[in-house]
Amino acid sequence: MSRLYFLVAGFSFSAVAESIASFPKGWETWPVVKLSETLPADTVLPPDASLFIQEAVEAYSWINNGEGSPLTIRVNPKKIEEYKTHGPYSDGPTAVAVSEIPGMIWVTEHLSGFPVYGTYDRQGNDISHTHPSLDPDFCDKCHQTYQEICRNGTCTDLVMKSYSSSGGKQQTNDE
Ligand code: HEC
Repeated sequence: MSRLYFLVAGFSFSAVAESIASFPKGWETWPVVKLSETLPADTVLPPDASLFIQEAVEAYSWINNGEGSPLTIRVNPKKIEEYKTHGPYSDGPTAVAVSEIPGMIWVTEHLSGFPVYGTYDRQGNDISHTHPSLDPDFCDKCHQTYQEICRNGTCTDLVMKSYSSSGGKQQTNDE
């Protein structure tokens, strides 16, 4: 009886996006490696902006009702050295990107060398089912596709250079 129940529950859950990376306890104290932002929906990118940057802006322009949000990137102190070289990574939670508004914790964890993803609210509730762009498969697609930018599932450093080539500032329609 209980076995049947679990089979049915397991089946119905698999239809909904679920975080694969676990919620890393103590992420608040991890060192900040970068203060970034999700760009507002009305951002006008420079004509030479890479497809990668265009996709990244489009995918998350819904955050904070299109106004963008500060993004704080923190790295597990045990993995700082691995992060500097973009891997190879040991197992366990690797990095978080915290969208400060409305408070979303994006988690990248490594399992047997492979990156897996998850999204949580500040209390640690799994919210990856709340928007299609929070589905771990969606995270994976972007982080894996752009191998020249994201290595071993982490993206930060090299992307920073792309942003700074646009003057380090976003341009908006108002300008
Ligand atoms: C369309 C592309 C794209 C998608 C989709 C995407 N990311 Fe990222 N991710 C990036 C970029 C670009 C950065 C670097 C941001 C910066 O440097 O400002 C990044 C950075 C990160 C970081 C900081 C650590 C690092 O250096 O990589 C984490 C953690 C992260 N993403 C997790 C996720 C999770 C979880 C998802 C899915 C909910 C996701 N990402 C979806 C492009 C993407």
